[in-house]
Amino acid sequence: MTDSTFHKTAIITGASRGIGLAIAEKLAGQGVGLTISSRTAADLEALAPHLRQLGAPSVTTIAADMADAESLPAIVERHREAHADLSALIVNAGVGSSGDIADYALRRLDKTLAINFRAPFQLIQLALPLLRAAADRHRDSGAKIVVLSSITGVYAEPGLAAYGASKAALISLVEALNIEESSAGVSAVAIAPGYVDTDMAAWVHDRIPPHAMIPADDVALIVQTLLSLSRRTTLGPIVMARAGSGGHCA
Ligand SMILES: NC(=O)c1ccc[n+]([C@@H]2O[C@H](COP(=O)([O-])OP(=O)(O)OC[C@H]3O[C@@H](n4cnc5c(N)ncnc54)[C@H](OP(=O)(O)O)[C@@H]3O)[C@@H](O)[C@H]2O)c1
Repeated sequence: MTDSTFHKTAIITGASRGIGLAIAEKLAGQGVGLTISSRTAADLEALAPHLRQLGAPSVTTIAADMADAESLPAIVERHREAHADLSALIVNAGVGSSGDIADYALRRLDKTLAINFRAPFQLIQLALPLLRAAADRHRDSGAKIVVLSSITGVYAEPGLAAYGASKAALISLVEALNIEESSAGVSAVAIAPGYVDTDMAAWVHDRIPPHAMIPADDVALIVQTLLSLSRRTTLGPIVMARAGSGGHCA
């Protein structure tokens, strides 16, 4: 069987808005079967017909909170029941959090790390059996994991230490994962953008207007391309900087 015999399928976390929604729309347009997740079931159910109309052959929805480790297995399980195959895991859900190290509450640190690092680690762990099986079937492309890191995980910024560290940890996780899994066809990429024009970046609109931010669709285009690569290539972190920013800050 060739790769074209298979319909590709993907799980996308944080798909109800922002970058995750742009990725869901892009992949739907490519005919990818989707499982979309965020915290609110009604948002996801409202989106499903839109994604089907764009071309997704099937859309499964599952509400889960990345801060609740017990709610994560159901995401992969629902996808397995609905689609059987899993060719791509898009680990996108995350939270922004700012504050200087000197007085950053440790409770906030724990929550940021739980959502931005522990949940991605756990989801990847849960999805690996399905991804390995898909890599055996998709002989050309293998199976892919795409993780939304941040430029702040590459270039540190004052006031973003906890967030940046959680995103730097994802880059290290992706590197280790590629060493462990990519020769068998499961490969991972971390995308590290500067400010993207979504709700998450609205807090800096007084300094950086929306039109000076990276469009969410540009991130989605990168994801679409990554999913088309052969299994024989792995990539380092993809840093996406805002035009005019100098490239070393969010
Ligand atoms: N925007 C930027 O400037 C920027 C730059 C670099 C990297 N990133 C990263 O890109 C990813 C997406 O960011 P975005 O800008 O699209 O954010 P966003 O507009 O705030 O959207 C976040 C998405 O994640 C979901 N989400 C939030 N908290 C969650 C939780 N605890 N459990 C499950 N789902 C949750 C949200 O849905 P619900 O609220 O309904 O659950 C929503 O679908 C994040 O990992 C972010 O760190 C963003």
